[in-house]
Parts: sequence; structure tokens; C-alpha cells
Amino acid sequence: MALLEGKTLLVTGVLTDSSIAFHVARLAQEQGAQVVLTSFGRQMRLTQVIARRLPQAAPVVELDVTSQDDLDALADRVREHTDHLDGAVHSIGFAPQSVMGGNFLAGEWADVATALQVSAYSLKSLAVASQPLLTRGSALVGLTFDARYAWPVYDWMGVAKAAFESTARYLARDLGPAGIRVNLVSAGPIRTTAAKSIPGFESMEGGWPERAPLGWDVTDPEPTARAVAALLSDWFPATTGEIVHVDGGVHAMGL
Ligand SMILES: NC(=O)c1ccc[n+]([C@@H]2O[C@H](COP(=O)([O-])OP(=O)(O)OC[C@H]3O[C@@H](n4cnc5c(N)ncnc54)[C@H](O)[C@@H]3O)[C@@H](O)[C@H]2O)c1
Repeated sequence: MALLEGKTLLVTGVLTDSSIAFHVARLAQEQGAQVVLTSFGRQMRLTQVIARRLPQAAPVVELDVTSQDDLDALADRVREHTDHLDGAVHSIGFAPQSVMGGNFLAGEWADVATALQVSAYSLKSLAVASQPLLTRGSALVGLTFDARYAWPVYDWMGVAKAAFESTARYLARDLGPAGIRVNLVSAGPIRTTAAKSIPGFESMEGGWPERAPLGWDVTDPEPTARAVAALLSDWFPATTGEIVHVDGGVHAMGL
């Protein structure tokens, strides 16, 4: 039996075919799942085009995680395609350029607040909005970048990721009794649109392949997507509040 046979999954964050979420959706379909995508605003059109490049064209419903109207409408929009969900993938991140790039001390609250709302609080928003459709044994999976450290240029996005990781633990606590698991994949650097929008991203990815005991390919989202698929599957039935590192092993190394 395929890993995700018979499951129906909501996948956020497909922007281009370099998006981590695109590869999650592709793998999920290859492993037997039905997939519904989300996108928002002017990106809807692009996501609809990219959705046709999946093994099976997937429907796209509108969700801007900062819009309460979209969050309130999400369950009904998804119900146009399925009556339940076995999982949801949070693959969303955004911070204004002013709060990344190595000028941490200049970060202003309005821009930091945007980063926190879109990149951290949104995990709670997505969980609550999709909860009416989530069944016992279902899983929420999100993507992080190891928030234990201060990285070059990541700045307030790193702070947002720390909040995101903490949010996942509280969601694991509060959704566990409903049989919903909440886990994160901490990925190494991958050249996506979001990554390339970080001023000086090269200084984050630089040296990663050399430091990783297993090596690391910044152009290959497949290992990360596989881990997301595994956490969505029935093969982690007693795991929640966990962060699985998919970084070639860098997180475990000293200098
Ligand atoms: N690329 C990396 O090096 C890397 C490493 C670790 C973790 N991550 C995380 O992976 C996730 C996916 O990013 P990616 O690298 O695939 O880049 P990406 O640019 O392909 O995806 C980011 C997505 O966030 C979505 N988004 C932004 N604001 C939104 C909003 N208000 N409402 C709904 N969606 C919104 C965008 O539409 C886009 O699809 C992010 O959480 C990112 O922080 C990326």
C-alpha cells in the first residue's frame, strides 16, 4: 500500500514548482493522496497554473492566513472538494525585507508583527480553521528553519520561527486529545522564492553542504518533502510536538 493511500490533504504554500509545498503535494499524490491546495490574492493565478503540473491537477482554494474572512470560509471552501481532511501542511513564511538581511537592531514593530502573524501565528490560525474537517489520526505538519540559533541575515524571521516552533508545541498539547498530531520539519537551506527574498541568503546556505555529514543539495527539496509525507502518514502515530531535522545532519554538529 502506498504511504498516503486514501488520505485527503490540504497543502498551503505552493507558489512555484520550486516551492517545498509543490514537492510535498507531488509526493503526496504519488503516494496515493488526494490534495487540495491553497493560495491567495494575486498569487492565486500562478498557483492554479502550477497546480496543473502536479501528477493530477489539484483544486486551489483561497486562503490568506492574515484574513479572518478567508479563515472563517476555509472549511466551506474545502468542503466543495472533500468532506474531511486527514492532514494539513503549513508551508507559509513571509517577513518584510526591512526585518531581514543583517540589520536586526533596526527592526520596527509593525514589520516584525507582520512576520510573526504570517509566519508563526498562522499555524494556529490554519489549525483552527481546518479543525472542523480534521479527523482522529490526522496530522498537521509545518516547515521551520532551526530557531535555536542566531543565523546570519535571518534576523526577525528567525524570531518568528522560534514562535512558530513554540506554537506547534502548544497546538500539539491542545489538539492531542482530538487525536490530531502536530509536527515540524526543520529543513536545511533550499533555493525557493521565499529563500531568495532574504537579502544575503547566500551567507546562510554557504558552507552547509561542507558542514553536513550527509552532504546537502540546496536545489533539492525532495528529502524535506519526503519527511513531511512521512509525518502525514500513519507511520508516526505516537509522535507529536516533534521537530524532525532534514538538514544533512548540520544541527547535530559542533563547529
Ligand atoms: N527554503 C528554505 O531554505 C527553507 C528552509 C526551512 C524552512 N523553510 C520554510 O518552508 C516554508 C515554505 O517556504 P518555501 O521555501 O517553499 O518558499 P515559497 O516562497 O515557495 O513558499 C512560501 C509560501 O508562503 C505563502 N504565503 C506568504 N504569505 C502568505 C499569506 N499571508 N497567506 C497564505 N500564504 C502565504 C506564499 O504564497 C508561498 O506559497 C516556509 O515556512 C519557509 O520558512 C524554507
